[in-house]
Amino acid sequence: MRRTLAGALTDLKSLPHRLADPARRAEPWAFVHNVGDGDFVAVGRQLVRHLTDHAGLKPSDRVLDIGCGNGRVAEPLADLLGIGGGGYLGFDISRAGIAACRRRFRGRAHMGFEHLDVWNGEYNMGGKLAEAEVVFPAADASIDLAFATSVFTHMRMPAMRRYLAEGARVLKPGGRFAFTAFALSPGREASEVFAFEPFDATSKVIDPRYPERAIGHWRPAIEAAVAEAGLTLRTSLAGLWAPPADYDGGQDLFVAVKA
Ligand SMILES: C[S@@+](CC[C@H](N)C(=O)[O-])C[C@H]1O[C@@H](n2cnc3c(N)ncnc32)[C@H](O)[C@@H]1O
Repeated sequence: MRRTLAGALTDLKSLPHRLADPARRAEPWAFVHNVGDGDFVAVGRQLVRHLTDHAGLKPSDRVLDIGCGNGRVAEPLADLLGIGGGGYLGFDISRAGIAACRRRFRGRAHMGFEHLDVWNGEYNMGGKLAEAEVVFPAADASIDLAFATSVFTHMRMPAMRRYLAEGARVLKPGGRFAFTAFALSPGREASEVFAFEPFDATSKVIDPRYPERAIGHWRPAIEAAVAEAGLTLRTSLAGLWAPPADYDGGQDLFVAVKA
């Protein structure tokens, strides 16, 4: 209910550009699946720029969008990958999010979407499958770039470890896994925007009653999970959530590579 109401507010803010620009009228409604506030087009473009600048996204890449939501990143990727001969697969645990993506990209053969009925305390409390048992809907060594934007910020560490391992499985040798997180370190454990409180040995959360609302992970635990998955951490950039930042993204950005 809380997310739905916040989504409705985002929708209200989107009305001026929906009315002014006919091309934007069919954008997904955030009250149906709320992936966060901000302008759908601008945020999507910014995330693709981060993937290009820091994770080597190429138009010919076969990409996997983990927790693709309502297609915010898929939107700017569709033309790029369509022109370059690349391909896109997005999956999410939100049935409404995947339905919106399928409607929006109907007829575009290089854009695929899968729904997985996985439990998450913030996004799918009725989900049948545990996050730590998920198998990504992609074959071994089939993906050039896997990414999860603003997804591990809603998942506990055992689940994140599973997702990193699955990412490593589906990546081609030399493939990259880009993900965002709130990486905690002494002196950078909370901020004005995110008042994290202690939760467990590897994480802090903004509300211990609803941990998946927003989770920060201790940096050594993130680094250990990346290494355990068989990936090598190549890039780590501090986001704006706790200044000073290394780049213009809100969350911390990590890029790991499969040997
Ligand atoms: C803040 S939204 C970000 C959506 C999208 N990545 C973006 O940047 O626009 C978080 C998304 O993660 C999805 N999600 C949460 N837990 C997940 C899980 N265990 N597996 C896959 N997706 C998950 C939610 O349904 C939601 O769409």
